[in-house]
Amino acid sequence: MSLVQRIARQGKITFSAHYSALTAGSTEAPDLQPLLALVNELKSSDINLPSNPAVADITPPDSAPAAFIDILRDNHFTIAGFLLRRGSSMPIHDHPNMYGICKVLYGKVIITSFSPPKRIETSIPHSHGFSYYMAKDEGAEFFTAASPCAILTPNSKNLHTICAMEHSAFFDILGPPYNSFENRNCHYYQEVPKTTVFDQEKAKELDGVRVLKRTEQPPMFYTSVKSYRGPPVDVRKL
Ligand SMILES: [Fe+2]
Repeated sequence: MSLVQRIARQGKITFSAHYSALTAGSTEAPDLQPLLALVNELKSSDINLPSNPAVADITPPDSAPAAFIDILRDNHFTIAGFLLRRGSSMPIHDHPNMYGICKVLYGKVIITSFSPPKRIETSIPHSHGFSYYMAKDEGAEFFTAASPCAILTPNSKNLHTICAMEHSAFFDILGPPYNSFENRNCHYYQEVPKTTVFDQEKAKELDGVRVLKRTEQPPMFYTSVKSYRGPPVDVRKL
């Protein structure tokens, strides 16, 4: 059985159990370790991506900053691949009440993460209906193919921006998946100066905290779609 099929099977075990627990009212975190052990082994060749990022075919087609590879959509989790062009960034976005596992397959990315945001109750003149949030800055980390997975949870590093220092690819598992009927929409944010919403004194006190404005998806960021060419993922065997 291919590694990606084993990952899919373990993803189903991990996240279907978690989904059942959630719907029964449990707040217990899923045990991600069996899944992480498999994903940490994954290489670009396991999903038939060339390992040499200089090969033109693996950069996003057209001029898109990123490409999306749909590998598996399940009610309990999703698996996708992303290609990011050198110098492009995924804008700050969230994964509400979700877990995420991200494994870089080639290239080098910086992931800058934030804790889940708290809405700032304030009325700002000329806010144009935008809402503002406070989030703890969880710092920036480099990831390459040699790095273990980056992990996000509902309460830790739930927001992030991913910036490609080189043409990069990563493998992404989300569970439970985005679902607007279950209040798991993806929102985009932009960091703004703290003084946008606080006076100078209060802004100085908020060390390690960022102020984020919730925005529409920035038009500069869009993804093209690339076909998945790795080993088949057979959902009947999950
Ligand atoms: Fe993300």
